[in-house]
Amino acid sequence: MSIDDKIEDLLRRREMVLEGGGLDKVEKQHQKGKLTARERIYKLLDEDSFVEIDAYVEHRCIDFGMEKQRIPGEGVVTGYGTIDGRLVYVYAQDFTVLGGSLGEYHAKKITKIMDMALKMGAPLIGLNDSGGARIQEGVDALSGYGNIFFRNTLASGVIPQISVIMGPSAGGAVYSPALTDFIFMVDKTSQMFITGPQVIKAVTGEDVSAEELGGSITHSTKSGVAHFRAENDEECLEMVRKLLSYLPSNNLEDPPQMVTDDDINRLSDRLVEIIPDSPNKPYDMKEVISEVVDEGVYFESQSMYAQNIITAFARLNGRTVGIIANQPKVLAGCLDINASDKASRFIRFCDAFNIPLLNIVDVPGFLPGTNQEYGGIIRHGAKMLYAYSEATVPKVTLIVRKAYGGAYLAMCSKDLGADFVLAWPTAEIAVMGPDGAANIVFKNEIKSSDDPVAKRNEKINEYRENFANPYRAAARGYVDDVVLPQETRPRLISAFDMLMSKRESRPSKKHGNFPV
Ligand code: HXC
Repeated sequence: MSIDDKIEDLLRRREMVLEGGGLDKVEKQHQKGKLTARERIYKLLDEDSFVEIDAYVEHRCIDFGMEKQRIPGEGVVTGYGTIDGRLVYVYAQDFTVLGGSLGEYHAKKITKIMDMALKMGAPLIGLNDSGGARIQEGVDALSGYGNIFFRNTLASGVIPQISVIMGPSAGGAVYSPALTDFIFMVDKTSQMFITGPQVIKAVTGEDVSAEELGGSITHSTKSGVAHFRAENDEECLEMVRKLLSYLPSNNLEDPPQMVTDDDINRLSDRLVEIIPDSPNKPYDMKEVISEVVDEGVYFESQSMYAQNIITAFARLNGRTVGIIANQPKVLAGCLDINASDKASRFIRFCDAFNIPLLNIVDVPGFLPGTNQEYGGIIRHGAKMLYAYSEATVPKVTLIVRKAYGGAYLAMCSKDLGADFVLAWPTAEIAVMGPDGAANIVFKNEIKSSDDPVAKRNEKINEYRENFANPYRAAARGYVDDVVLPQETRPRLISAFDMLMSKRESRPSKKHGNFPV
């Protein structure tokens, strides 16, 4: 072959790689409202930044006629590029090639870039669109998944790992995403399940559609598997870029600092109006958050799941903070099983990636009931205590209204290592609310009174006067300062500035960083 022929040959091979599974299949992919693997990568990364690796890899299976199906690229496009100028590694499964199914070499391509991402300390983004383990390749395909799971675990807490589900994800294939930090799903075109509708029908007799079983709404509202949900591929990839803007590239870096036009000394009169006079009246904690953070912008994770707690990224003076806030609008802001799971995993992620924690507290307690007790609220709630106690990043707690009982501790009290605790004058820090406390402590006095109702009210008021305020806690140093609601933003910024040089360690342990 002459040099010209060799160049010609390379160009022809390149073209074959770009064709994927062929025009018909690409057309089918588009008809489903899905982009192709390459289109997705180009949309995700900075323009012209993608560099492909292993484009010429092929499988070596000779069973079930596979020897005749030799398609360069092995049904997955892998490589590196940049997002906002920062290095990331990406793989995108190509559904047009053998349904994006995962065979031995498909998996090897993925694990190669996982190893590179870990070595270089850069985020890994997986765009999943696959029929799962390639049936023809048997145990080699299963082994491929095993190798991915193993690396997901090694990389956990070291580099951010993001899974984007943009098509089917069935069987054990859902477990790689589950081992990563965040799962994005696209509405209507993505599904995740361990066993599909047909198997469920055969085993349990239940009739359920794929969408009902494992679509984006199910996983955003019922199971809590998905952290973010998008209308379509384009919106989803834009959301991935946004999430990364809050995160460092690895556990040895700090998150990027952005320039903000928002005044660090901005006071907010609106904050005084948000909290109702009556302690039992609900309000929207999201209003408090947007009044306080830079430009009122925050990015919520699991926004449709366990809505009694809010987990969100935002910035204060251009620096990322992870916010965990009770939501009085839902279940009165009580902590329950799902809220505990949601919050504790978020806390552990932030801690692993040097993201300071802002805890905004208005919590009447853990949710009572047999449902919760039988479901294991004790072991789930304990995860929050564990996550906060374990976290060594700066931790600032702001108590705006109720902080009762165990839930006061579980929202990161001083004792769980909060570095700075601020309270509004509306804060009520006590073992329980005045009504419950009066019923127990003054039970006999109320019972023997001529007018039990009046007596009870009198005792409730007495209790409220004495305990339902921030000053008892401030008198013991559990609260560092009582601040005016208006001055919350400057005070929080000052607290996080003060904590920037925080150094704290824990006894070393033999443990991984498995997301709880
Ligand atoms: C090999 C597969 C495949 C697979 C799909 N294809 N899944 N090939 N192994 N697992 C091929 C199809 O034969 C077809 O090839 C092409 O991909 C497109 O598939 P269609 O069925 O035509 O597409 P669609 O109608 O959109 O349905 C997509 C689907 C369905 C829902 C994903 O294909 C499906 O149910 N596949 C099987 C899913 C599954 O049970 N996977 C195993 C999970 S167990 P042609 O040549 O016709 O285009 C697992 C174990 C992991 O993953 C263990 C880890 C611990």
